[in-house]
Amino acid sequence: MKLFVATHNQHKIREISQILPGFEIVPDDPEGIEENAPDFAGNALIKVRAIAEKHKGEWCMADDSGLEVKALGGAPGVHSARYAGEPSNTPANNALLLKNLEGVKDRSARFTCCCALVDPSGEELVVHGHCPGHIAEKAAGVEGFGYDPLFIPNGYDKSFAELSADEKNAISHRGRALEKVREIVGAPDVPAPSTSAEGAQAPSTPRLMAWLKLFRVVNLPTVPGDVLVGAAIAIIFVARAGGEPDFVKVLGAALASVFLYMFGLVDNDFVGMKTDKDRPIPNGEISIGAARVARMFCWGAAIVVGAMVGLYPLWWVGAFLLFVSIELYNRTKWSPLMGLCRGLNLLCGFAAPCFPPIGHSFGLDALEYLAVFAAVWTIYIWAVTWYSSGEEEDPEKKRRVGALVGGIVYLQLTALLIFTLMFPQVAAMRPLLIAGAVMLIFLRLFKTVLPKVSTS
Ligand code: IMP
Repeated sequence: MKLFVATHNQHKIREISQILPGFEIVPDDPEGIEENAPDFAGNALIKVRAIAEKHKGEWCMADDSGLEVKALGGAPGVHSARYAGEPSNTPANNALLLKNLEGVKDRSARFTCCCALVDPSGEELVVHGHCPGHIAEKAAGVEGFGYDPLFIPNGYDKSFAELSADEKNAISHRGRALEKVREIVGAPDVPAPSTSAEGAQAPSTPRLMAWLKLFRVVNLPTVPGDVLVGAAIAIIFVARAGGEPDFVKVLGAALASVFLYMFGLVDNDFVGMKTDKDRPIPNGEISIGAARVARMFCWGAAIVVGAMVGLYPLWWVGAFLLFVSIELYNRTKWSPLMGLCRGLNLLCGFAAPCFPPIGHSFGLDALEYLAVFAAVWTIYIWAVTWYSSGEEEDPEKKRRVGALVGGIVYLQLTALLIFTLMFPQVAAMRPLLIAGAVMLIFLRLFKTVLPKVSTS
C-alpha cells in the first residue's frame, strides 16, 4: 500500500519504513510551508494538508515530533529541530540542551510524535505516541539522530543512540504513533479503497476499537457493582422490616449508572480535547458529531431507564447529584469529586429497591451502613484518581492505575460476600457473587485480547 509521507528527513523515512514494513513509503517534501502552529498536531496537519492537495484519493501522512523537557517547561518542544537557531544544527541543539540543564536534578523528558493522516476520502485523523525518559549528563551512542545520544528511555540505562533500530522502534514515540497509523490504515496487503463509499469500510475495525477505548470497556462493568452493593444494604434492612425489595428497579438503577458513567467518559474526552490528544475524540478516531450524539444518548438513556422502571425520588436526587459531580470533575479534575461519583453510585443503588428507603421501612442503621461503605468507595477512588496524575506520560503508571480502578471489583465482591454470609435477607444475592467472579475472568480475558481498550 502506498503512503505519501511529507518529509525530506532521511532518518525519519528510514524509521517509518522500518516500523511500517510492506508499505510503499513515498516521501514528498512539502517545500516552502511554514510550520508555525503552537503544537505538534497543528504542524503535522499543515504538512499533510500540503501534500494531500497533490495526492487526492491516496493515503497521506506527516509527522511532527520533538523532545519535551519537564525542567524547561516543555522546551524545546515544537522548536526541537531549531532549538539553537536557524539552520537546524544537531550538535548545537544537543550542546544547548546540556547547557540549559546544567545542575538540574529532575531531568525527566519525553519524546512526542504526532502523525496526521489524510485518508483517500479526504478525512483527517491525528494520532500521538509518547516515549518517557530522561536527559543524560553526557551524550552516548552513534545510532539514530537528533537528541538520541542524550535521551535515556524509562526502564533502560542506555541512550536511544545506543539501542539498535529495532529496539528503539519498539518503544519510541514514532513507533507508538505509527502503530496507531497501521491500525487506521489497515494491513499493507489490503488494497486501499479508492472511493469514499468504500473508504468508509476500511477503518471500521479501528473505529470499533476507538468506541471501546472511549467507553473504557474494561472498567465499565465495575459500575453496576457499586449499585448492587448499595442495593444490598437497602435490601437487608427492607427485608428485615418485612418489606419486599424490587429487583427490577435494582437492575434499572445499575443500567442507568452505566449510562451516566458512559456519558461522563464522552464528556471527559470533549473537555480534554486540548490536553490529552491520545484519546479517541481529540485524535479524530471518533468524529465530534458522532461523539456529541453519543453524549446526548447516554444521559438520555439513563433518564429513560430510570423512568421506565419507575425509580423512586431518592434515586433521581442521587442521579442528579451524580450528573453534577461528573460535570464538575471533568471540568476541575478535582480528585475528591471522582471519589464522590462512586459514593453516589452506591446511593443510587441504595435508593432503588424500596420506597422510601429511610425512616419508613427501617431506621438510621441502614443509613449508617450506607455512609460507611460510600465513604470507603469515595476515598479509594479519590486516592487512585489523585495518584493517577501524570499517567499519560508514564505507561507503567497508566497500567497500575488501570489495575487499581479495576480493583474496585474486589471491594464490591468482598462487600457482597460479607453481606450474603451475615444477613439471610440477601442470601438470594449469592448468584450475583458467582456472576461477579465470572465477570472478573471475563475482564482478565478481555484485557489480554484487547489490551488497547483497557486504558484507565
Ligand atoms: P520535525 O518533526 O521535523 O519538526 O523535527 C523534530 C526534531 O525533533 C528533530 O529534528 C529532532 O531534533 C527531534 N526528534 C524528533 N524525533 C526524534 C528522535 O526519534 N530522536 C532524536 N531526535 C528526534
